[in-house]
Amino acid sequence: QGELRGVVAMDGPSGTGKSTVARRLADALGAAYLDTGAMYRVVTLAVLRAGVDPADASAVLRCAESTDLRIGTDPTRADVRIGDEDVAAEIRLAPVTQAVSAVSAVPRVRELLVARQRQVVSEARGRSGGIVVEGRDIGTVVVPDAELKVYLTASADARAARRSAQDAAAGRSSTVDATKADVERRDRLDSTRAASPLRPAVDAVEVDTTELDIPGVLDRLLGMVRERGLDH
Ligand code: DC
Repeated sequence: QGELRGVVAMDGPSGTGKSTVARRLADALGAAYLDTGAMYRVVTLAVLRAGVDPADASAVLRCAESTDLRIGTDPTRADVRIGDEDVAAEIRLAPVTQAVSAVSAVPRVRELLVARQRQVVSEARGRSGGIVVEGRDIGTVVVPDAELKVYLTASADARAARRSAQDAAAGRSSTVDATKADVERRDRLDSTRAASPLRPAVDAVEVDTTELDIPGVLDRLLGMVRERGLDH
């Protein structure tokens, strides 16, 4: 495999295989990786711990500003902390998943986190290395000049089934029906919010993963990276 030069923006709803594929793509290309959803989850965890109402935008913002959020960019290791505390597992639990859409809909929280995300991207560019950045608004807002923009989709059924399997593998109990309802609820909130709604960038390549497995999606993306001469 060659090395990635530039930025790959990966957007789309949850359950499309986006995180797994983004990590593996970065690893295969010797690139850095940024999970922006994890950043919104950390702020949400801090909001819940502080007993702040996720619907109270100014209290949520204060909480975001005072949280010492730290996130690593190694695609082989989830490194997410508040100060020194490892919160990588806790941010995946149901309470955070339930509240994260409300927190990520607060425009000034987005501004704060987008500024952090751009900083990570410019550091990667400065090292003349590549980075795979994953989220909902990467191609549209965070890195509009990304060298490659990918938008992953899949049917709601396929996404709910994948989420349940992930939950089971991680020892979290869930049912496909409840997961599907949650997936659809979050899609609706994420794509109808006023600030940076989930939508494909005009120049994004859309990949429907309903019928593709992870290696299949990865192959397609590696092909796009090569076609564009982004590996060297
Ligand atoms: O990818 P994820 O499930 O960890 O993302 C958690 C939530 O964060 C998701 O419901 C939408 C929000 N999010 C966002 O608004 N913008 C991003 N760039 C990434 C995630």
